[in-house]
Amino acid sequence: MPKIMINPDLCNKCYTCVQICPAGIFIQKDKDSIPKVLGAIAEDFCISCGHCAAICPTQAIIHESFPEGSINPVRQELNLSSEQVFEMIRTMRSIREFRDKPIEKETIERIIDGAHFAPSSTNSQSTEFVVVSNKAVLKKIVALTSLFLAKTAKQLRNPVIMALFRLVVRNKAEDTLSILPKIDRYVDAFKNGEDKILYNAPLLLVFHGKKSIPLSDVNATLALHNASLVSRGLGLGSFYAGFVVEASHRDSKIPSILSIPKNNRIYGALVLGHPKFTYKNWIERRPPKVEWI
Ligand SMILES: Cc1cc2nc3c(=O)[nH]c(=O)nc-3n(C[C@H](O)[C@H](O)[C@H](O)COP(=O)(O)O)c2cc1C
Repeated sequence: MPKIMINPDLCNKCYTCVQICPAGIFIQKDKDSIPKVLGAIAEDFCISCGHCAAICPTQAIIHESFPEGSINPVRQELNLSSEQVFEMIRTMRSIREFRDKPIEKETIERIIDGAHFAPSSTNSQSTEFVVVSNKAVLKKIVALTSLFLAKTAKQLRNPVIMALFRLVVRNKAEDTLSILPKIDRYVDAFKNGEDKILYNAPLLLVFHGKKSIPLSDVNATLALHNASLVSRGLGLGSFYAGFVVEASHRDSKIPSILSIPKNNRIYGALVLGHPKFTYKNWIERRPPKVEWI
């Protein structure tokens, strides 16, 4: 059976599939004829993005990637206004103070579902997930990340390594070195029994993907941001655990305890929990640097 077909009894010859398909798989001779599927092009270039099936007003597209039940009507009545979208974006903060309450499995599944709807390079849907709620594993990640920070601070204070570092990264070196005192504070906090890495959160969601897939890192970042938006809609708070991601690239114990396959890399980590506080105000960002060309 061909990958894509058009049901002639349902097609209303509206021409939208022809216009919308990014791979140019459909052609329509004139406005009175049903579009034709260019089979060979479909085989080689269709990325199963589903735009054809999503745009078709009569459900005339038969696509092997979208079996019955996978094409759903858009509920226009649920569309957010631009004011609502903007309010959500500007009031969303990194949440680091959590109540001592676990997150339900169904809620986590909903967040992952939302993350998986993010755009991805050639619709690769490359992002994979690890859900970490085991307290011992969370503690281990905090310890390994703190150790990584301590090691990094020590190395950057070594005059030989410092000189080499300056040589390699040149003008970026000062930026990195300027955060040394901040790193020290994280390390000291860990020594004092505080958790400034995951802030005692009940959940860490790890985003990873195959290193071989182009833009796998970007895909994971977009998935992570979707997850943070969905979690906000569910009344949860989250923040991006950048130190954990950095540490996972330097210390193979982190990917190992998270069962990350050898050919994959961790590209994002989102800390989640029930927020302890509710923000009453939103704060302006610095004016963005923008070049109009
Ligand atoms: C790539 C990235 C890495 C981050 N890493 C951390 C982190 O390791 N720990 C942390 O507490 N916050 C982390 N954050 C959160 C930022 O500090 C936060 O986004 C920024 O201060 C702005 O505050 P807001 O998110 O509340 O608006 C990270 C954010 C990004 C985008």
